Amino acid sequence: MLLYLHIPFCNSKCYYCAFNSYINKFSKQKEYMEAITLQLKNELKRFNPKYGSIKSFFIGGGTPSTIKPHMYKKFFDILEPYLQKNAEITVEANPNSTSLKWLKGMKKLGINRISIGVQSFDEIKLKKLGRNHTKNQAIEAVQNAHSIGIKNISIDLIYATSFDVNSDLDIAFSLPINHISSYALTLEKNTPFFKKIEFIDNSSKLANKFIKKVTSKFNQYEISNFGEYQSRHNLGYWRGDNYIGIGAGAVGFLKNERYYPYKNIEKYIDKPLHVEVEKISKSELNTEKIFLGLRSKVGVKKSILTTKQKLKTDILINEKKLTCKNEILYNSNFLLADEITLYIIS
Ligand SMILES: C[S@@+](CC[C@H](N)C(=O)[O-])C[C@H]1O[C@@H](n2cnc3c(N)ncnc32)[C@H](O)[C@@H]1O
Ligand code: SF4
Repeated sequence: MLLYLHIPFCNSKCYYCAFNSYINKFSKQKEYMEAITLQLKNELKRFNPKYGSIKSFFIGGGTPSTIKPHMYKKFFDILEPYLQKNAEITVEANPNSTSLKWLKGMKKLGINRISIGVQSFDEIKLKKLGRNHTKNQAIEAVQNAHSIGIKNISIDLIYATSFDVNSDLDIAFSLPINHISSYALTLEKNTPFFKKIEFIDNSSKLANKFIKKVTSKFNQYEISNFGEYQSRHNLGYWRGDNYIGIGAGAVGFLKNERYYPYKNIEKYIDKPLHVEVEKISKSELNTEKIFLGLRSKVGVKKSILTTKQKLKTDILINEKKLTCKNEILYNSNFLLADEITLYIIS
């Protein structure tokens, strides 16, 4: 089982971002951190994990580095007995709030992996994206995390823009990191970027060039994830593990149901135990398993496919678009995962 905690506070809103995060609600932080402990206790009853069985805990956002370490303490105290001894514990952080003091505090709580939102090392690109940090702050954040002994360091990069990615990757490769998550810029509705098509380059030529360069150093184990160390949390999602979702805008998943707490911070604080329940049908679960398996090195077990789907995958194997090993189907070009999934399920 996995656990995700969402921290919906940010120092500023990046122009492209549609995630559930707020820049003007810092006064609610204390109440929010209290509310998440109430929801955690409740979800532990629902999911009923055994002691020592949660293999990964991921704190994402928003910007988790806007919250002081001592404010996470109560949450960690409740969670501790349920965590595996060597659980992966990741926190996302933004370069302008990743101070040495914050990092040390988080490490003391048990953090052993950090994901730093660099996005780019190019000052002009950072400004265009609406990021509120500099190239040097990003480099320093990585170096600080390394200097205090956090072994697993990942950075996020945004590509598929009109800017060159070579220099971003050259700088990334010179840093003590063992993972890169890189996302093609998407123009999300209701963001200042929605109509900025001149800023985007989503050609397959650029994507392939980017992937070729990243994979010269790191293994690609999912469409957007590359690493010497492969995140257990990410792999758990793609394998279809159950996950507890805590916080405003988080999502939980258990067997054939999804749980959605309130997205709005005030509503969440008022009723942290409230969740909307979504039933997931067998065919939806099947589609998800195929889609996630083909986007990653996890692959798809043949046993979950219908007879009709098996016939289609046989055709894809013949066309060398899929391979099959030990009754598991693998896709070697993750960029084609959407297309292949659509063909299999239609
Ligand atoms: C929700 S953010 C949280 C991390 C952290 N707040 C930060 O921005 O550095 C997770 C990652 O999603 C990516 N992201 C968010 N919106 C995106 C978009 N519209 N297109 C591509 N990537 C996006 C960014 O790379 C970001 O680091
Ligand atoms: S990209 Fe990260 S820092 Fe920027 S607004 Fe979104 S969550 Fe906040």
